[in-house]
Amino acid sequence: TRFFALVPAAGIGERSGAGMPKQYVFIAGQPMLAHTVAALAAVPRITQTLVVLSPADDRFEAALPGCKAWVARAGGASRAETVLGGLAELRSRGATDGDWVLVHDAARCLLRPEWVDALIDACADDAVGGLLAQPVADTLKAGDAQGRVTATVDRRDKWAAQTPQMFRLGLVERALQAMGAAATDEASAVEALGLAPQLVRASMANFKVTWPEDFALAERLLTAASV
Ligand code: CTP
Ligand code: MG
Repeated sequence: TRFFALVPAAGIGERSGAGMPKQYVFIAGQPMLAHTVAALAAVPRITQTLVVLSPADDRFEAALPGCKAWVARAGGASRAETVLGGLAELRSRGATDGDWVLVHDAARCLLRPEWVDALIDACADDAVGGLLAQPVADTLKAGDAQGRVTATVDRRDKWAAQTPQMFRLGLVERALQAMGAAATDEASAVEALGLAPQLVRASMANFKVTWPEDFALAERLLTAASV
């Protein structure tokens, strides 16, 4: 069995307020995307990593010189379209329906190889596949447009979905094609086919750098991890 990593890195990072695609913002001395690719490269069972860029990307070569990952300028207008473009690229490079694909957000640069190992250990013999996730610790509130609470939501069966999300190429491609651009992750597309992906607990530290204040937190965690 082969395990491919697919890193969607074609977003614009609007919520980050960085004024450039957030995957190229420097954190702890390197662009965020370099940390992400390095974490995946440190997992021996991953055969190869494919980074999927926007066709208009003019930063990658300078930002990640000598990067050993495969690169495809196949990004689309939504994350789902970017992933579908990447899956087609994997096929053109010889991947087939039965190969596992671990889709991992470029913006989750705090990924640790041991979490990827835990995901692969939990899912490699699974009929469906699964994803890293974290049980929700806070009490959950629903709110209206004015910021008033409309309901308290039972958190006991709730998990925050993370990445990697690991499915066989044939299944995840069929699922994303069926759901279209609306899918915000691979698992939701697979769920829409009536299947139940496995939830594999990782860590709160596997958060997605999204808001301006997230860069400083990621910097502190990455700096602490390297000493
Ligand atoms: N992504 C992508 N192609 C898109 C949109 C998103 O490859 N059309 C990628 C991003 O680069 C990111 C991951 O999907 O690594 C998760 O998306 P998100 O955190 O939403 O990143 P952005 O879409 O770039 O940020 P924002 O939504 O704030 O604009
Ligand atoms: Mg986005």
